[in-house]
Order: sequence, then structure tokens, then C-alpha cells
Amino acid sequence: MSSLLNFIDYRARARQRLPKALFEYIDRGSEDEQALLRIRSSLDQITLTPSLLNGVDQPELRTPLLGQALAMPLVIAPTALAGLVSFQGEIKLARTARDLGIPFCVSTQSVTTVEEIRKQVPDANLWFQLYVWKDRNLTRQLLERVQAAGVDTLVITADTPVSPKREYNVRNGFSIPLKPSLALLLDVLGHPSWLVSVWLRQWLASGMPSYGHYPAQFRAAVTQQTVHEAVRLENRLTWNDIRQIRSGWHGRLVIKGVLSPQDALLARDEGADAIVVSAHGGRNLDIAPAPIQVLPAIAEAVGGDLQIIADSGVTRGSDVLKYLALGADAVMVGRLPLWGLAAAGQQGATDSLRMLRNEMELAMTLLGAHSVRDCRKANVLGRQRALFVKPSPGAYPEITA
Ligand code: FNR
Ligand code: LAC
Repeated sequence: MSSLLNFIDYRARARQRLPKALFEYIDRGSEDEQALLRIRSSLDQITLTPSLLNGVDQPELRTPLLGQALAMPLVIAPTALAGLVSFQGEIKLARTARDLGIPFCVSTQSVTTVEEIRKQVPDANLWFQLYVWKDRNLTRQLLERVQAAGVDTLVITADTPVSPKREYNVRNGFSIPLKPSLALLLDVLGHPSWLVSVWLRQWLASGMPSYGHYPAQFRAAVTQQTVHEAVRLENRLTWNDIRQIRSGWHGRLVIKGVLSPQDALLARDEGADAIVVSAHGGRNLDIAPAPIQVLPAIAEAVGGDLQIIADSGVTRGSDVLKYLALGADAVMVGRLPLWGLAAAGQQGATDSLRMLRNEMELAMTLLGAHSVRDCRKANVLGRQRALFVKPSPGAYPEITA
């Protein structure tokens, strides 16, 4: 998509293509969206100072992560319902990840199951993100399926004990499970190409879209009214549960949503191999610090013992470099590949991340960084100021329709 030159273009195209309810579900934050603003402002306040005359020709992006060799320090983040963004969206993201040599983390709440993704894309590096259900037997069975699908890396999301308050979802009539409403109907009818190429196609292929991993007896189509208690997300999760899951899971274990050195140390002590320092893209706790603010202290506390992945707010290659410079080993991206997927399917998702890669290479060359390791040694300014961020006026540049 040569006309899409930056994340603003991808986001604008996604906004045209998707029903407003779905676009806003992907795009926005929670409550007053202060976390979203804070994430952007804190990234903007970091500068990296170049080291001159280092003779950088082709920066080396290859990165070891959790025993795997990544072509670049990126992981496609788990995102619920990517299968509503494009037909078989999760399979397309898996292909994108495979083509780019990076992992794709499948969400518990994906439309397509991990088994089906594995079948369609056998050579993808698939990770799995776990939301623990209240029924622990069902959760155990899910993990058995995940392991049988050849997944080595399990990411437990720890920052979502309840559904956050997202008022725009209520206004738009977008709730999971979906409740049909006049507003939603008009919204969808206003996006006929999405209706036909995603919704209808999905419906013809396998009925109403639903959370594919949910056991058949509870697999509410996303239009059904209630989520059964057994598959509600467990709100009473503790480190004891992590210990139990750790003892039964034979692969790598990652805890997602860590924002303090104390929790990073606990994750390490409970046997995690990595953490994701994440504010959930500003979608959950609106008073949470931005990952950039807390990353240096976390890296200092556990950097030698655990691998550190960071996420939230990555829209430019330089954002990735800032996270690396402040102590991350790799970075997850959530919205950007979804915008790419909405804009132009698999090609769009792949192009959006190629763009990110190109921006990283360019910024590394300008910085005089030969490798990812060099980025960590970059001279970072703004670290202190980032602790007291002033929100900038908008999380993303406004789009005039
Ligand atoms: C998410 N995220 C998420 N995280 C998770 O652990 N399980 C999930 O099912 C989801 N679902 C989800 C849906 C959508 C539409 C988005 C945008 C995000 C959070 C995600 O993994 C990641 O932490 C953030 O998206 C990172 O921020 P950026 O890159 O979107 O700014
Ligand atoms: C979200 C949940 C699914 O961010 O994690 O929408």
C-alpha cells in the first residue's frame, strides 16, 4: 500500500473501513483516556542522542528472545476479536508474523482457535495469551489444547481482573457479547464492504463470529446476551495461581501487565521467564503509569534475571528504540498491525510492520547504532522528565473525516 506512509495513514484507512463501534473498540482507552495520553506524552518526551561517525551501514535487528531468534525485536500483541477486523484476521496476522520472522501472540479471545491457526500456518511462531477463566478445569483443558498446538510461550495477562469502563462502547452499542441495537445496525449498514467481506463471510463459513476457544457449551456467539459464569475472567487471581500454572506448563512463561519493580520481582520468583511491562495500551486502568515511566526501575530490578518486553503506544520505529533504550529486550505492538489489517488485510498488516522496521533501521542509522544492543546503550534524555508527564492535547492526531 504505497499510499499509506505512516501510522496516521493506516489509522485513517482503518477508520474508513471499519464500523465506528469496532474502530473505537480498537482505538480508544478507558474512562477519561488519560492513560492513553500519558503513554503518548511519555514517549514523546524521550530523546535519544546519536553517537556520530560509527559507520553504520545496515543496522542488525536480529534479536534473541526466550530462546527464539527473532528477525527484529517485535512481537504481535494479543488482541481480542482480530477476526472481526478482517476475515480470518488472526490467520492473516500469523502469516504476517511468519513472513517477518517474529512471533504472533494469539489471544484467548480470538475468533479463530489456535489449532486452526496452527493448521493454516504451520510454520508460524505462535505464542498464546491466557485469560484465566473462573472454571479452572476448563482453563486447564484450554492450556492442554494450546500445548498440543505446539505453542511454547504462554503469556498470562494479569492486568484485567474486570472489564474496564469504556463508555464509547456503551454508546456505540459495542459490548461483548454484542447486543443488537439500531445504532449498531446503522453503523454496520454504513460500512457495507466490511459487512460483506468480514461479517457475512465469517457467518457463511462458520456461523456467527464468536470467541473460538470458548468450550462449545459456552461459546456464545458474540451476539448472544450473556457470558456464562464458567468462562468469566477470574478476578481473584493471585500469585498462587501463577505458581500452579507454572508447575503444569512446560514451556516459557510470561506475565503481562507488570508496572512495578515489586511485581517484576514476584514474577521472577514465581518462575516467569519474561514480563511484559504494559499499560494494556491505555485500555484498562486510566490512572496507570506509562510503561516508559516505570521501565528503567523495572529493568534495574530484574533486567539480569528476566527478559523484558514492553508495550503500549508504539506507532513509530523510534518508539520501539525508546523502549529498547530504557531496558526492554523487545516490544509488542497491538493497534498498528490491526490498523494495517483493517486497511488492506494481510498485506496491510505486513506493510504496516515493514514500515515500522524501516523506521527503526533509519533511526538506528541516524543514532549510530549497529544493533539492538547498541540501542540499549543509547544516551537517553528525558528519563527524569518522563516521570512527570504533561498530557499532550490528543493521543493521536485528529483526523478530519
Ligand atoms: C488488546 N490487548 C489485549 N491484551 C491481552 O492480553 N489480551 C487481549 O485479548 C487483548 N485484547 C486487545 C484488543 C484490542 C483491540 C487491543 C487494541 C488491545 C492489549 C494488547 O495486547 C497490548 O497490550 C496493547 O494493544 C499495546 O498497546 P498498542 O500497541 O495498541 O498501543
Ligand atoms: C481488551 C481486552 C480484551 O483490551 O484485553 O479489549
